[in-house]
Amino acid sequence: MMSQEQNDLITRIGPKDPCGRLMRKYWQPAALVDELQGARPVRPVKLLGENLVLFRDEHGRYGLIERHCAHRGADLAFGRLEHGGLRCAFHGWLFDVSGQCLETPAEPKGSNLCRNIRQRAYAVVEKSGILWAYLGEGEPPAFAEIDCFVAPESHTFAFKGHMNCNWLQALEVGIDPSHASYLHRFFEDEDTSTAYGKQFRGASAGSDMPMTKILREYDRPIINVEQTEYGLRLIALRELDAERTHVRVTNQLFPHGFVIPMSTEMTITQWHVPIDDENCYWYAIFTSYTTPVDKKKMREQRLELYELPDYKSRKNKSNDYGFDAQEQLRSTYTGMGADINVHDQWAVESMGPIQDRTKEHLGQSDKAIVQYRRLLRQEIEKVASGEPPMLFLDASNARSIQGPATMDGIGPTQGWETFWMEVDVKRRRGAPWVAPVPEEIAAKVHLSAAE
Ligand code: FES
Ligand SMILES: [Fe+2]
Repeated sequence: MMSQEQNDLITRIGPKDPCGRLMRKYWQPAALVDELQGARPVRPVKLLGENLVLFRDEHGRYGLIERHCAHRGADLAFGRLEHGGLRCAFHGWLFDVSGQCLETPAEPKGSNLCRNIRQRAYAVVEKSGILWAYLGEGEPPAFAEIDCFVAPESHTFAFKGHMNCNWLQALEVGIDPSHASYLHRFFEDEDTSTAYGKQFRGASAGSDMPMTKILREYDRPIINVEQTEYGLRLIALRELDAERTHVRVTNQLFPHGFVIPMSTEMTITQWHVPIDDENCYWYAIFTSYTTPVDKKKMREQRLELYELPDYKSRKNKSNDYGFDAQEQLRSTYTGMGADINVHDQWAVESMGPIQDRTKEHLGQSDKAIVQYRRLLRQEIEKVASGEPPMLFLDASNARSIQGPATMDGIGPTQGWETFWMEVDVKRRRGAPWVAPVPEEIAAKVHLSAAE
């Protein structure tokens, strides 16, 4: 069990909070590129508890600046996008993407007032369909060369969704392999050929057994957790019989992401980005190793649940997440429909805005969560004592973080340890883009090029 102080330490992300200082060492997803389309590319953004406004100027440069105007605090999200920046609608002060004030038009002619006026501003870069911001001090880190950043634009698709809870409990559902056997249980299996774009609905690699059947019938996974250079690797084993074992390999990507298989062709890299202490967005990049991603279909599927402009779920606390007692009796474990995003959302929001970890009771199946929290505390302490935390990369070591490998498939009960790596390596070698085989895995797997 945890004290209130410990829970506060690992959940709160304001500028002065120790975990907030850790989070400010990393690039954070601030918006989807899609959100800055249209005639007026200006969006209010709340990130790590800070109120900001994101815009694209006439030259195509992105700016992320403090939302309240440096003059007398009016809301720049309603500003006019013109003359090389964003102009406050109150007295016309104009700010560029660096936050520099360019004009104070109500001041007497020849006034120099604007020279020394600066709106707080953060660096923004575009990568794989997401606009990333760096809210920390000093030089930002380099991006790791993981698949979702290396794959071509045609093979990635980005989306996001709102969750009305603290970022940590949202992340922890992603490093909890046993919940899928309960929360996402379906009492009947669907035709796996209609599974495109959906998680846990296809067939497991190396078999025609639907994932829904495996999760339902083998509900006490053995969970192995290994520490890696990028966070944690989780291997969940469901032994089907003496010959066959279902293996699922997922990863915690430090600090607040995970990388998991979605289907045999795609992975999901997902971050749980704090809006403030009690709300977060998940941002996901879907990466395909085979054919280009059908972005239209992926977007349409997700827009059935999420409503623009805030990417909030149509099924939420206000309508009991669509709960139907008859459905819970007959077809799903939750009674909340077939979309597993709704299940996860209910699970993490129903804990309350910030889960009270002083009252929880953890078991063996929570071991990845326990290990992750230890790692998080350790890295928070590093930052507090002035050291760089893990995955704070520079250009020379960004290349060392590749992959990471994921897998969901049926392998041999004796020998699954190398089997899952072989499946991952074959998939990378078959990709039409250069998907690097992580060094650590290349050293352990010896497949001939023809295989
Ligand atoms: S408050 Fe923005 S220009 Fe006056
Ligand atoms: Fe889940």
